[in-house]
Amino acid sequence: MPRPTLLLTRALPEAVEARAARDYRLRRPDGPDRALDAASLLAAAEGCDGILCAAGDALDAATIGRLPGSVRVIATFSVGTDHLALDAARARGIRVTNTPDVLSIATAEIAMLLLLMCARRAGEAERLLRAREWNGWAPTQLVGTTLDGKRLGILGMGRIGRELARMARGMGMVIHYRNRTRLPPAEEEGATFHADDDGFLASLDALSMHIPGGDATRGWLDAARIARLPRGAVVVNTGRGTTVDDAALCDALRSGHLRAAGLDVFAGEPAIHEGYHTAPNVTLLPHLGSATGEARDAMGFRCLDALDAALLRGEDPPYRVA
Ligand code: 8YV
Repeated sequence: MPRPTLLLTRALPEAVEARAARDYRLRRPDGPDRALDAASLLAAAEGCDGILCAAGDALDAATIGRLPGSVRVIATFSVGTDHLALDAARARGIRVTNTPDVLSIATAEIAMLLLLMCARRAGEAERLLRAREWNGWAPTQLVGTTLDGKRLGILGMGRIGRELARMARGMGMVIHYRNRTRLPPAEEEGATFHADDDGFLASLDALSMHIPGGDATRGWLDAARIARLPRGAVVVNTGRGTTVDDAALCDALRSGHLRAAGLDVFAGEPAIHEGYHTAPNVTLLPHLGSATGEARDAMGFRCLDALDAALLRGEDPPYRVA
């Protein structure tokens, strides 16, 4: 049986590429490694049986509607699926899979890093030294705050949220969470559940956001919700940038209502809201969530496990989201 043809939309970790090359005839888009627009993706998908894509690739309803009939499965190199029109894929009988679990620790580590960088003003400090403006230690210089004993609110207590809770407990933080449903006690591990936004936000010293992108959560953290947070709170987002009203967040950082914010994701990446560039109390990272060798290899192998099931063995693939 001839090997199926697989479109790799992005350059992937070496071990993942090697396994894909072994089992598939590989197709790549023309041009440099980049998130693909619809035209580039459709041109490259011609004659392919499967697509291994990533966040940022434009697989909206119109594009999925125009994919060649040969495409039977799309595996995304991400847990997030807001770049994919899942209903359009279902309508065409194209199966879609993602990469849950294998990036939970890596992403939670970035959330913990941002919490620490915000609390201890690490971004400001690092910039001071790089600007060659440090005149030596002083008793009141760059004084931050401890995380020990502080109340951390986890918005979206899924796999990543629970990993963050585990790490933050180790830092002496007290865990609160807001979720669509209350977790069973074994998963809650003593964290305080909140069934409403206002009560949740008012009880926090720090908020960490782990909710998916898409219309249902667009602009969730707006001026009204930010105002519910106690003065001096910290906000961290490693989910999706579209869930934050950037102008409202910048206003709260400038006014001092919020002590600091740490952002790893942005609406319209790689574009970043202008206000963040000049705000001294915001720490910016370039979507590093799952950027560990361990996580990225595992994400790629999870994609290939799903593609192998569907295209090599004719089975229903694991990790299906559509
Ligand atoms: C990915 C992520 O690295 O998995 C996700 O949803 O945001 C990151 O882990 C990124 O989306 C690339 O696909």
